[in-house]
Amino acid sequence: MEQDIQSARTALLSEFDALDDKQRILKSVHLRALFDGIREVEPKQRGAYGKSVNALKQEVQTWIDDAQLANHTAQLAAIDVTAPWGVNTPVGSRPQLLSGVSGSQHPLTAEIDRICDIYQRMGFIVEESREIDDDYHMFTSLNFPADHPARDDYDTFMTDDGFVAPAHTSTMQNRLIRQYKNNLEAGQPIAVVIPDRVFRNEDLDATHEHTFYQIEGVYIDKGVTVGNLIATLSAFMDEYFGQKLETKLQPFYFPFTEPSFEFAIERPDALRKNDSEEQKWLELLGCGMIHPNVLREAGVDPEIYTGFAWGNGIDRMVMMRHGIEDVRHFQSANLAFLRQFK
Ligand code: DAH
Repeated sequence: MEQDIQSARTALLSEFDALDDKQRILKSVHLRALFDGIREVEPKQRGAYGKSVNALKQEVQTWIDDAQLANHTAQLAAIDVTAPWGVNTPVGSRPQLLSGVSGSQHPLTAEIDRICDIYQRMGFIVEESREIDDDYHMFTSLNFPADHPARDDYDTFMTDDGFVAPAHTSTMQNRLIRQYKNNLEAGQPIAVVIPDRVFRNEDLDATHEHTFYQIEGVYIDKGVTVGNLIATLSAFMDEYFGQKLETKLQPFYFPFTEPSFEFAIERPDALRKNDSEEQKWLELLGCGMIHPNVLREAGVDPEIYTGFAWGNGIDRMVMMRHGIEDVRHFQSANLAFLRQFK
């Protein structure tokens, strides 16, 4: 009888190896035959036999558990937590969190997904920025002359050999205009948004963090005007806040745009506190018509093409949406904070 059990075990093992769905081993004829056989055994030996059969069944269950664990571990190993999917993968097609693994999306990640989803539906491609860059992309390519005082507004961190932690996502403009220049030659616009992390040498407080997020946008084609800029940003804001909003442009200065503006929206209903006039407008982003020098530097003829660009802080949008009072929560890795966004 002990031999019956041993040969059933061998048969079960090879069957188990071949199964895709390991759970099905519990329905194996070999296991069933052993259980059915219990009745046939003489009463004196039945107890001991039954115990051995049950022990085998328990062993089979440990095979299943081990296989599931191994599978799980393999899936985890396959996930690069720093880049689990391409930025242009639609949200609905991305891998889901593994069942049984506790965790949740960071509120900034969730917001970036929402924002990019809207821009993608408007026809924009999403590109990532980088977390280390150089002086050329940070300043020179963006029409900041050497020693220009406007550089002081973007005080950030540098390595000893002159690399820069980018202080804005505009560092990507020159690269991406070059990368998508063929679009223009093919009669298509360049339409790209760039969400990513940026860095500044800030004195930290509830509204200032050394590390935060922006989303940059670039749109270039023949005959693009400020009217297109306003229409594009208004369409985004209406969709994002779910209501038709009044917008306002006020003059501003950036070296990389001419003219430059601050773009404000009427405070959406969800964020309305009182009716006083100074509460009415929310200044959300900087924008403007891309400076001819920036286009020329990226190999685009400003006599033929024009474009607009904008840069929008993301952290503040998330803080407004969720009523978060201190920007430092985002980088704190504080689980009590993060678990609220499950
Ligand atoms: N880079 C600017 C900042 O961080 C924001 C910005 C303003 C981006 C105007 C743009 C732009 O692309 O056109 O303050």
